[in-house]
Amino acid sequence: MLIAQITDLHMRTPGDKAYGIIDPAAFLGPAVRALNALSPRPDCVLITGDLTDLGRPHEYAHLRAQLQALEMPYFLLPGNHDDRAGLRAAFPDHAYLQGASPFIQYSVDTYPLRLLALDTVVPMKSHGELCGERLAWLEQQLAQQPGRPTLVLMHHPPFLTGIEHMDAIGLLAGAPELERIVSRHPNVERVLCGHLHRTIFQRFGGTIASTCPGTAHQLALELGPRPTLQYIMEPPGYQLHWWNDGRLVTHHAVIGEYPGPYPFA
Ligand SMILES: [Fe+2]
Repeated sequence: MLIAQITDLHMRTPGDKAYGIIDPAAFLGPAVRALNALSPRPDCVLITGDLTDLGRPHEYAHLRAQLQALEMPYFLLPGNHDDRAGLRAAFPDHAYLQGASPFIQYSVDTYPLRLLALDTVVPMKSHGELCGERLAWLEQQLAQQPGRPTLVLMHHPPFLTGIEHMDAIGLLAGAPELERIVSRHPNVERVLCGHLHRTIFQRFGGTIASTCPGTAHQLALELGPRPTLQYIMEPPGYQLHWWNDGRLVTHHAVIGEYPGPYPFA
């Protein structure tokens, strides 16, 4: 099984620039083309939050229009830039997004790897939280299929990264409890996250927790105390998670046109 992960699309309508510089709508097309060109083709695409920049209905409409070009199924998670109601309204055919719960949490059981999506959003806030209700859902889901290889998906990573301005708006509640739950379930192959616009890994609860590069802007690699948080237009990217013979291998890939490939001969 092959799974692609993209994240932090921050969709706006074409030409509507974030911070006066970033045109997110211009970046998603190349990302979709890169995924469609992969051979073998991923079985599905995970999109781990910040789907839109401001959570506005026309941003979701444009996101949906652009994602229609994806030639494989995709699964959406909300991030801190999203609006749950707007997301649900724009994707009424994505049944897993719907439901009576205020939280968008779901399981996907149709693949060799089970997917469990957690909702870390605190409306109108940049940081994330996992409350008792959301953690109880995860624990219940994991108890239902205890031996099944599983990926946990969430927007805010449950660890400190050293990029202090992002750590201040990280997962500020629920991370220790999450780690205890994950540590009781060695079938959790990964905790896959977004939010950081960079590739970062940490050992977590006996598994690996990681973040994924953004499809548009990246966060500057600036550790420690800094006056401001800064973004940088480094090459956008995605991750490719290959489930092979009971082991998950992750490739970091960049999006864009580059010279080559050339044979070594
Ligand atoms: Fe983001």
